Amino acid sequence: MAKVQVNLGERSYPILVESGILPRIGEEIGAVCRGRAALIVTEPAVSRLYYNDVSESLSRAGFQTFLAEIPGGEENKTLAVVAGLYDRLLDIRMDRSGVLITLGGGVVGDIGGFAAATYMRGIDFIQIPTTLLAQVDASIGGKVGVDLPRGKNLVGAFYQPKIVIIDPDVLVTLPKRQLVSGLAEVVKHGIIADLELYNFTRKEPDALLRMDRDALEFVIARSCEIKAAVVTADERESGHRAILNYGHTVGHAIEAVTNFAQYTHGEAVSIGMVTAALISETAGLAAPGLAADIAGTLRGLELPIAVNPDVNLDLVIQAMVYDKKFVSGKLRLVLPMRIGEVRIVDTITKTDVINALIKQAELFGE
Ligand SMILES: NC(=O)c1ccc[n+]([C@@H]2O[C@H](COP(=O)([O-])OP(=O)(O)OC[C@H]3O[C@@H](n4cnc5c(N)ncnc54)[C@H](O)[C@@H]3O)[C@@H](O)[C@H]2O)c1
Ligand SMILES: [Zn+2]
Repeated sequence: MAKVQVNLGERSYPILVESGILPRIGEEIGAVCRGRAALIVTEPAVSRLYYNDVSESLSRAGFQTFLAEIPGGEENKTLAVVAGLYDRLLDIRMDRSGVLITLGGGVVGDIGGFAAATYMRGIDFIQIPTTLLAQVDASIGGKVGVDLPRGKNLVGAFYQPKIVIIDPDVLVTLPKRQLVSGLAEVVKHGIIADLELYNFTRKEPDALLRMDRDALEFVIARSCEIKAAVVTADERESGHRAILNYGHTVGHAIEAVTNFAQYTHGEAVSIGMVTAALISETAGLAAPGLAADIAGTLRGLELPIAVNPDVNLDLVIQAMVYDKKFVSGKLRLVLPMRIGEVRIVDTITKTDVINALIKQAELFGE
């Protein structure tokens, strides 16, 4: 078992990473919560698989448990779904001593966390993330919220959970593409802060793809440590936390121009990490070969390393312009200097990005 402490003064909390912990989750939750009423927020696809284990364990630990099933999918990360949760909380007469537990991927965690942050000005909140992306990224850092019709994550709060409990065993039921997508964020954590983690992802892709227990526990715990350290240094995202956006500026643009349909988030970020590495090499900030090394690692994990030829590169740039990424013609980008070290550079031009995208297609495209 690995235990990662997130140090945020009186809002500090642990992240537990242990294969097979799910059926014993009640003890861990009982130790950190005051009340004994728990609302488990989940979605049908996850509830079917894991709700019984969680609720039975909570009952054994003395909790009265209630279920709130919300519809899954990004299209349901809405205020209307949050309003439905408030109704459920009122129906079960949840008072301020209760706990809201999210069981699911990033969508469930973000929605449930926002409901917990705002219901009666905040009740205890616990995350049980069940996708790799949620285990290594979304469940850590305290960002919760929902989308508005005009954009993603436009309403939210910083609200820390009492504990995050991660059971890598639940990933066995996750579709492979979702697993691979989460691995992109793991590689990102290696590149921004941890050579050892990066080397593991480079040398052990097979263990990760076949979901070897020890391999998953290792990369998840390391990822949590890295994200926790970054978040601790900059809880409210005033500066340093931006390094977590490595690969994301170009990645988001690729997601947008392909209507969030062609690539998963992690796939788009994978391509964006290679673009940023090429920009860094061209600018003389990274040694030649870094981008190829990173591309090789991502390829080994079955992630894409260049956009398909049908993606219009001009539109990718336009998406960044539309997203107000350029300030006076300059783009702020997280660039790798070497594995384990990145820098935020704010002098990148449109030409730099387009040249990198063209080079990327030549070097790594089909
Ligand atoms: N709060 C943050 O800091 C933060 C960070 C990154 C991403 N996010 C958010 O996270 C969301 C994406 O999260 P996600 O990738 O986990 O997507 P998701 O929550 O939609 O889950 C992906 C799919 O996996 C299924 N699933 C979940 N667990 C499963 C399991 N164990 N077995 C089988 N199927 C399972 C779900 O039903 C869903 O279809 C986005 O809304 C994004 O904005 C938040
Ligand atoms: Zn991401």
